[in-house]
Amino acid sequence: MTVATHTRITPRFNNFGADVDIDLSQPLSEAEKREIADAFHRYQFVIFREADLTLAQLAAFVEAFGTADQGRGRLASDVNEYAGIRVVENVEKGKFGPRGNSELAWHSDRFFDPVVAGVLNSVVVPEVGGDTSLADMYRALDELPPPLRRAIEGRKIKQDCVFAPDGTPGIRPGGMPIAGVDRSPGIATDIVQTHRYTGKQFLYLGNRLNAYVEGLPLEESESLLDALYAHVDQTTFHYRHHWAPHELVLYDNQACMHRRESFDVNADRKLYASVVDKSDLL
Ligand SMILES: [Fe+2]
Repeated sequence: MTVATHTRITPRFNNFGADVDIDLSQPLSEAEKREIADAFHRYQFVIFREADLTLAQLAAFVEAFGTADQGRGRLASDVNEYAGIRVVENVEKGKFGPRGNSELAWHSDRFFDPVVAGVLNSVVVPEVGGDTSLADMYRALDELPPPLRRAIEGRKIKQDCVFAPDGTPGIRPGGMPIAGVDRSPGIATDIVQTHRYTGKQFLYLGNRLNAYVEGLPLEESESLLDALYAHVDQTTFHYRHHWAPHELVLYDNQACMHRRESFDVNADRKLYASVVDKSDLL
């Protein structure tokens, strides 16, 4: 019989992130789900070691917390029950997806309608590079210099880079810059948001590409966004994860932004990526 104790959750430096010692190859009990959800809210992301999971086990983990997204990347399986798990790899099919091996800038997943949580599960990882970093957006807001805080009060960022003119989500080929971000269609999100579960405020930026702070002249919007991203880019807000094989990271997709370091294009790398789209627990 498994007994829940406090020793299974180990917070990381600054209480940003925690290690959770629970075997994910077994179905989670209700008590374990609550423990994980509690750590997720308290520390913003949780890391599981020795998470050498089958796709069915990974799908079960996601579904233990909510609904999976259908995903737009390559599905890890043609079987519907695993829809929503994307495979990011160059081991079996010899080629990465459109995002390749390059660095990915700070963002939140599906930032125009953010998913509750992101799930990354490593299978094969390079010795060097490919790290995933997370930024603490509660602290980023708390420690925003007063002039910047005043500049964002009541403001919204319009996110445009992934929308077709009719408002349908869809990634433009190559993430092409568009003309006139202040005039183009998109969906606006509040820059200061309140977490649906913790009730704490956080800075919500979404994605830098073709973002626009509504109501400002374009130049002012650009310099405000640059200043906000430079603020978030300070390492004091970050945790940088160097992957070992068979680790699973579950991160709060709104109270954290994330980014990925580049890695050698010839290095083997395989991760499964999924999301908890909507959740009653997280
Ligand atoms: Fe992402």
